[in-house]
Amino acid sequence: MQPIRAGIVGAGFAANYHVECLERVHGVHVEIAGVTSLRKESREAFAAQRGLKAFDSVEDMLDSIDLLDICSPPYAHQPQALAALRAGKHVLIEKPLTGCFGPADDAAQASFYGNQAPKQPMLDAVMQSMGELRDAADKAGVVCGYAENFVYAPSVQKERDVLEKTGAQILRMLGEESHNGSASPVYGIWKFAGGGSLVGKGCHPYGAILYLKRVEGLTRTGQPLRPATVSARIHEITRLPNYDDKGFIRTDYRDIEDYGFMHITFDDGTVADVLTCEMVLGGIYDYLEVFANNHRVRCRLNPNDLMDLYTPDQPAFQDVYTVEKISTKIGWSPCAPDENFTMGYYWEMQDFLECAANGGTPQCDLDLGIDCMATIYAAYVSAEKKGAEVEIPRIA
Ligand SMILES: NC(=O)c1ccc[n+]([C@@H]2O[C@H](COP(=O)([O-])OP(=O)(O)OC[C@H]3O[C@@H](n4cnc5c(N)ncnc54)[C@H](O)[C@@H]3O)[C@@H](O)[C@H]2O)c1
Repeated sequence: MQPIRAGIVGAGFAANYHVECLERVHGVHVEIAGVTSLRKESREAFAAQRGLKAFDSVEDMLDSIDLLDICSPPYAHQPQALAALRAGKHVLIEKPLTGCFGPADDAAQASFYGNQAPKQPMLDAVMQSMGELRDAADKAGVVCGYAENFVYAPSVQKERDVLEKTGAQILRMLGEESHNGSASPVYGIWKFAGGGSLVGKGCHPYGAILYLKRVEGLTRTGQPLRPATVSARIHEITRLPNYDDKGFIRTDYRDIEDYGFMHITFDDGTVADVLTCEMVLGGIYDYLEVFANNHRVRCRLNPNDLMDLYTPDQPAFQDVYTVEKISTKIGWSPCAPDENFTMGYYWEMQDFLECAANGGTPQCDLDLGIDCMATIYAAYVSAEKKGAEVEIPRIA
């Protein structure tokens, strides 16, 4: 079997678990050809720790790979994906798919504050950017996946099974991803991240919502159900003049929202609500609820009920991983024995690699990523109008 040679962009948090997941893919011969990132020291350290080759740039890596796995910050996703697609390589793009990152020249960028910039031109720019991706992917005829792990979480896949077997109609959904900031130093700066909580966190439950609504439509009528309108509010709670900082919550956000709410209507008139924020202590708070005409589910992504761990002995647990962003190990923790499994990361990589090797479209594809970002940037337009309903634009 010919190997699929994967090249990784980025040497940070996401790149680490992508390597773990690539190493666990079964039934497809995968070789990790190497890694590249912005800084020489970080890519060389990342490569040395894992026995990989470090490349100076994406361009240098392209001849040695069949697949580009993009784990760089959001501002770099679209140009790196375009370079790989134009070279005929499969591409997997981390969330958020892309975004609007302000003016191109450095001088103008220095004074760019994303939260103050008009949002309709941002939405237009994102649609254009995603149109370029769509064209390049169509021309290349390769597999282009969007790495939304919520789609692959075991609980969300179980709900897919329920929808397909029972022909249920989803009447409303409610999803949230909230926690205390991000491990990335550039999170909080719009020109790198493309937005705040809605882009960085809200995209997760919303990706699963888009996926399940698509499954429902295909099951019941053969046509995917897609998002039609959005109404949204955003806030900057940790930058309020009266915010009382006790030192537990990250606060260094430059020009992004730290709270967001979206109300979405679909083609069939049914609805979904997405909540997201940066101000949740006690670890990650990720869930999705589905209210259908013949069943109801609660998908507890994180925390879930797999294991609780109690200790009064913080120092002894220094090297014990319990759960992401828990901040303390004293007392009871909702311990996560294997987040790559419960959060869907293994299945995401497995599906993408199977499609790259054998043909086919991943469960989470470019079209889902496009609808996700179109909705979120339309949500920014709505928030600018204090929650007015805005139509979600479409590419095809
Ligand atoms: N699906 C998830 O649950 C999840 C979790 C974390 C991060 N992510 C996504 O993964 C991506 C990376 O996030 P992270 O937390 O790993 O960030 P990070 O800051 O830990 O790592 C980013 C890496 O990219 C490198 N980099 C920066 N600019 C680059 C460029 N122009 N070209 C090449 N490399 C560049 C940096 O040097 C660094 O090694 C983001 O899009 C983020 O949203 C997804």
